[in-house]
Amino acid sequence: MFEIIRRDGLARIGRFETRSGVLETPALLPVINPKICTVTPRELYDEFGFRAIITNSYIIKNTPELRAKAQEAGLHDMLDFPGIIMTDSGTFQSHMYGEVEVTNEEMVEFQKSIGTDIGTVLDIFTEPYWTKEQTAESIVTTLRRTGKACDIKGDMMINGVVQGSIYPDLREDCARKMADMDVDVHPIGGVVPLMEQYRYLELVDVILSSKKGLNPNRPVHLFGAGHPMMLALATLMGCDLFDSASYAKFARDERMMFIDGTYRLQDMQSLDCNCPACRGLTLESLKKMDNRKKTATIARHNLYQITGELALVKRYVREGRLWELAEMRCRAHPAMLDALRRLGEHQEFMERYDPISRDGAMFYTGAETRGRPVFKRYSERIVDRYIPETDKAALFYDEGSKPYSKARPADFDRVRRAGYTPVIVSPFGPVPAELDEVYPVAQSVFPKMEDTDTILESESLTVRFLECKFAETVNGNDVSDDGTEEHDPDTIRAKAVSRYQFGIQATEALFRGRIDLVISRKTGKIRNVISDGEHVLSMRAGDGLYTLKKEGADRIVSAIPAPFMRVAVMDDAVPFVSEGRNVFCQFVTECDKDLRPMEEVIVTDKSDKVIATGRMALVADEIKSFKKGVAVKVRSGAGDEA
Ligand code: GUN
Ligand code: ZN
Repeated sequence: MFEIIRRDGLARIGRFETRSGVLETPALLPVINPKICTVTPRELYDEFGFRAIITNSYIIKNTPELRAKAQEAGLHDMLDFPGIIMTDSGTFQSHMYGEVEVTNEEMVEFQKSIGTDIGTVLDIFTEPYWTKEQTAESIVTTLRRTGKACDIKGDMMINGVVQGSIYPDLREDCARKMADMDVDVHPIGGVVPLMEQYRYLELVDVILSSKKGLNPNRPVHLFGAGHPMMLALATLMGCDLFDSASYAKFARDERMMFIDGTYRLQDMQSLDCNCPACRGLTLESLKKMDNRKKTATIARHNLYQITGELALVKRYVREGRLWELAEMRCRAHPAMLDALRRLGEHQEFMERYDPISRDGAMFYTGAETRGRPVFKRYSERIVDRYIPETDKAALFYDEGSKPYSKARPADFDRVRRAGYTPVIVSPFGPVPAELDEVYPVAQSVFPKMEDTDTILESESLTVRFLECKFAETVNGNDVSDDGTEEHDPDTIRAKAVSRYQFGIQATEALFRGRIDLVISRKTGKIRNVISDGEHVLSMRAGDGLYTLKKEGADRIVSAIPAPFMRVAVMDDAVPFVSEGRNVFCQFVTECDKDLRPMEEVIVTDKSDKVIATGRMALVADEIKSFKKGVAVKVRSGAGDEA
């Protein structure tokens, strides 16, 4: 059972329940070579806090002493590891050394017999140099073997490995078929050569095409990925599990992992590491250690780099800032920068899972930041959903101080009196003054010295926007001060934000008849929208977006047919949700596919009656596939509305 606790991008902090305990994801499983324990499993558990490890059942099976011990005492006792043990099946050995002389059934049965928690099918490793035909054929075999493994797995969990070399369509198709099988975890396999060859750009396509086909309710394991440098990016793309043999392999070659790469001890100029393994050591004292101790020290250092980075990745997910961390990490190597740039080309897919707002400001880290989904969402919404009050625009330029209407109230008043709509050219592109407090416009920090990419992109978005929305554009500074047109900036803002957030049709339903606004006396900001005497919306100060009230929800439901903005629940859940309890996945019968995480949502019963309003915790396809977890954070039920 897998449950999402927090999310950011495609990243999730999850709870994965197994018979040997619960694993919080993202997690990395250190690889244990049962023949050489560089760091013992017990130390991994007690000292480093690893709750899961991975070892190789093929090696155990082919080593008579190990085999006998594992079958007698069980894997957990043999390794002295009280947590979760995953085993691999010999596929990696076939990649390294050619054919292995075991069958799939034999390997699955063996893994069961030694008490593995999560076993692996004997999948076929699809090499990046393979032809498409060869790859497609081998996937058929992997799928057949996976089906067989599911039949005989008993109470062992099983890894259903997504293969497909570098062919996105084969990856997606394989993933879709794996998703339909009774497997428990989805490793993405066949990627080790891509990582060894620094082909991170292709790795992005491989991961995302696999993710497109997979069922979101199972953890995704990136097989063979364990370098701290890539954890942030891979987590952002929705990988939940990782494994690392490198921490020990590199240690034996005297290579130290750092967040910006791997360094050979002999090439290092200094040892400036404060991890518990290195503390108190100098480069000289480390070099002089006897070999055993040196290997153990470097292995421990490597593990601390991994645990440190993983903790940081989790913190950034919790803070909703994983894009920022991934962008920083991808500067460590040009091949990683390629991966980040490629990820920007998958903006449309990433946008479906990207939260509508977040706490705190978003930081711009460089031109690649434009590849984040928020940029695409903003530029699409102002084209699709914005309706100007007048057909003349007066342009101003972002001078760093935000929100813009607080920075230059006199200028905006002057052009409005002359019948113009103030539009600010910002790094997001054009911002009509009435949208200047909406996330992410006001809640973002850009450097004062703009880069050429941002200037050009912003200009081209502005030109397109002005062409489709206005008949005339002038420079805001050229507009004279003698205009006398009446205008009401608060009402213009109230409607514009609603259209931006809920669309044009819903806004017509919400803003009907007489409109009264409650304005905060302290901040001057809109607090509540009252339409024909009904409180329909409240505006949040933090992200400048609305929360939807019961009356507002009723109007949308009357005006626009389901499933627009709705999550419908079963009868069983109605009494609880009406009282303000959250909606859990298993009670949802239908859900609007256009709703994004954190978006306002209307909870209805089966006859489309409003029973509550709240915010989306997951998106439609996730809700459909999860058996557990919160789907909607309910703000207030219809039953307890004052
Ligand atoms: N270890 C690294 N890559 C793979 C893979 O593709 N399949 C299996 N079973 N193990 C791996
Ligand atoms: Zn160290």
